[in-house]
Amino acid sequence: MEGIRICGGRPLRGSVQVPGAKNAVLPVLAASILCRGPVTLENVPNLSDVAAAARILQALGGRVSQPAPGRLRVLPPEQPGRAVPRRLMQAMRSSLFFLAPVLSRTSQVQVSLPGGCDLGARPIDMHLHGLAAMGARFAQDGQALLASAPGGLRGADITLRYPSVGATETLLMAAVCARGETMIRGAAIEPEVTDLARFLQAAGACITGVGTRRLRVMGVQMLQGVRWRICPDRIAAATVLCAAAACGGRVALTGAVPDHCTAVVRALCRAGCCVTATETGIALESDGRLRGIGALLTDVYPAFPTDAAPLLAAALLRAEGESAITDTVFENRFACAAGFSALGAVAGILGRTVTIRGVRGLHGAQLAAPDLRGGAALAIGALAAEGESLLTGVEHIDRGYEDLAGLFAGLGADTARVRRREAGAG
Ligand code: EPZ
Repeated sequence: MEGIRICGGRPLRGSVQVPGAKNAVLPVLAASILCRGPVTLENVPNLSDVAAAARILQALGGRVSQPAPGRLRVLPPEQPGRAVPRRLMQAMRSSLFFLAPVLSRTSQVQVSLPGGCDLGARPIDMHLHGLAAMGARFAQDGQALLASAPGGLRGADITLRYPSVGATETLLMAAVCARGETMIRGAAIEPEVTDLARFLQAAGACITGVGTRRLRVMGVQMLQGVRWRICPDRIAAATVLCAAAACGGRVALTGAVPDHCTAVVRALCRAGCCVTATETGIALESDGRLRGIGALLTDVYPAFPTDAAPLLAAALLRAEGESAITDTVFENRFACAAGFSALGAVAGILGRTVTIRGVRGLHGAQLAAPDLRGGAALAIGALAAEGESLLTGVEHIDRGYEDLAGLFAGLGADTARVRRREAGAG
């Protein structure tokens, strides 16, 4: 079993380059199936979810190579396969993104229900209802889902009951080569959705309203190969900002897009940090003695992002005063609260809300990551604690961070990846 050893209590200082966004590259990789020529992607983060998406592309007949660090070259399949192996589907939530592009290309596809972080029920009804409006038919056999569109997908006027990121992306990918015009009303406007839309436009798709909640798509015959640079990861940026807020210090994030991080920056300023937009990104300075922020609710973009909620909670464990963060997006966002308590924090869960009363000090503990962002939050808590912690469950963390231990070590933290024999000890 692998883990991350963290000896906390040090301020963080230095500069980091913000990597490409996990939640942008994953739908773009799926969308490459719609392209009839090579797709070259730049600024691709080295994540296990990206490797999983590459395996799905290969299982569908595509070829994926890495000509240089951070660059992927995809040769989409001439005739995509019609089934994504279950073990690949269950590796992550993003395997669901392959449903629409393969259905668009082959008129039939078999997938199974996706995996991903256990944040709650995570149904896919909006994906399926939208596709059904476009002519898709579904049959379920246990975990297997067979989708077919014998006459091909046709444009439709679709209103989402909730601005689902994934459903918006699924329907965009279904619409770009469908017959006729599609309207997607009530669409998600997260930066990663915009990045996918811009990628599709660069490949020849006709989309208007990008960045708004009304997307209009006129279907085209096919998309071309394209070269595309993935947008920066605003949640990776939030992770570093919250870690520096928790530990104190001064960090600069090169490549971060300030506009994408407005709600996170506002919350950290409310907690007493000094955050500025720089020519190359964002800088944060903190003395590590934060104040509680009272009540904060997450919501869809541009509100405070659900993915950063556990990260901010971790930063507030030693803040003076009380904080209560409610996640309106997922039911089980704060599974990491048990780890906060193990570190000596006064943190509790009330439904979808994590309540925190700041304590003067935290101590090292044995920690287990419950999910991707919860794992990163426990790392932040351990960085702010005096003494040594061991964080296991790194398979969750590796899905969304290239090298979390190395990222913090590069900012002066005493963190290291540890292997089997060391991880078991202590
Ligand atoms: C995307 O998940 C992200 N994942 C998540 O990041 C992120 O937390 C989430 O958007 C919200 O911003 C990727 O992009 C790969 P949703 P997604 O559809 O698409 C419900 C991370 O850590 N819903 O916007 O699954 C759903 O249960 C991950 O990087 C339905 O009810 O999020 C949730 O309560 C975690 N029916 C809410 O909507 C549906 O058909 C928002 O989900 C779809 C969603």
